[in-house]
Amino acid sequence: MWRDLGEGPVTVEIEGRTVETGWDAQLGSVVIDGLRVDTTTSALVRPKVGEARTLPITTLPEPAGPERCRFATLSDLHIGTSSFGMLTTQRERPRPDVLHPMRAARAAIAEAVDWGAELLVFKGDLTHHGRRRDWEEVGELLDSVPVPWIAIPGNHDNHKTKSSIPLDEGLAMIGLDRVPTRHVDLPGVRIIVADALTGHHNYGDSSAIHHEICELAAETDLPAFVGLHFHLMRTPVPWFWPLGVRKTQADALLADLAAANPRSFVSSGHTHRNRRYTAGAIPITEVGSPKDYPGVWAGYAVHEGGIRQLVRRTAEPSVLSWTERTRLAVVGVWGLWSMGTLDHRSFTHDWATAL
Ligand SMILES: [Fe+2]
Ligand SMILES: [Fe+2]
Repeated sequence: MWRDLGEGPVTVEIEGRTVETGWDAQLGSVVIDGLRVDTTTSALVRPKVGEARTLPITTLPEPAGPERCRFATLSDLHIGTSSFGMLTTQRERPRPDVLHPMRAARAAIAEAVDWGAELLVFKGDLTHHGRRRDWEEVGELLDSVPVPWIAIPGNHDNHKTKSSIPLDEGLAMIGLDRVPTRHVDLPGVRIIVADALTGHHNYGDSSAIHHEICELAAETDLPAFVGLHFHLMRTPVPWFWPLGVRKTQADALLADLAAANPRSFVSSGHTHRNRRYTAGAIPITEVGSPKDYPGVWAGYAVHEGGIRQLVRRTAEPSVLSWTERTRLAVVGVWGLWSMGTLDHRSFTHDWATAL
């Protein structure tokens, strides 16, 4: 991915290959498959007009053993909103027929499925206001997903405003009951999603789902991927907004999960940013939203011996130009805050180290 190049079209030279991208904008991206794994190299990115740039390229090591499956997660679609950010709020003007959250969700779904995801996991905040028309749009979006999917709600799906409808009603519109957990087994991994909503609050409470998550993780021979909306807070005193699941509850959940199934992985949304932590042997990630900078989805390649997380910016041109604009939100701080470092976004985790 590049920005600030001269006029296109753009060609990329890497590992002796030349790839024509078709991009004619200063901001663009290309996916190049088949690179050597676990390698640091560089790509020469050459616009038709102006100087070529050298971009560093790093590929991840592959986990041990054969690949068993791929799935992807999308967090925080916020269908129905037309703006993003405080202070220097970004809005689409003129208002397009299809608002940016829907364009971003559709593009992210298409890219994730194209990458090979056999299942999509939606980690909450499907809607922005929980209005009937928002849920209708979410329903249409999910009906168009060409692979199986599972979902949990987030705090934005449970708004208590005049225009929002009760959460149970909204979920019913997309064919879901309100349940504390859901799970599905894919080759090589059990995926568990859990609903930590508490009332209409914008923070999470894991007490009601704690035991069910651990039981589901314990009763399988597979590694467990736990998808949450709310992040597990890592400090006793919160220092950024929004709040997640408070540290005392989070620590207890992580300790019991590690005891139940040491080959576990936890990932949340809600913060709209990319971060990675570890708690003992368990990786914990927060992954950003498709609709605001950097505008991403996460893919997971599950191998016999481990799992590879990759976070990819959605490249559809109208989405990319919008998400790039949202860097300016919150007086420009959003662009610095949300991306996270490369090794927080994309990394390989070896299950064997967890045993
Ligand atoms: Fe959100
Ligand atoms: Fe949220």
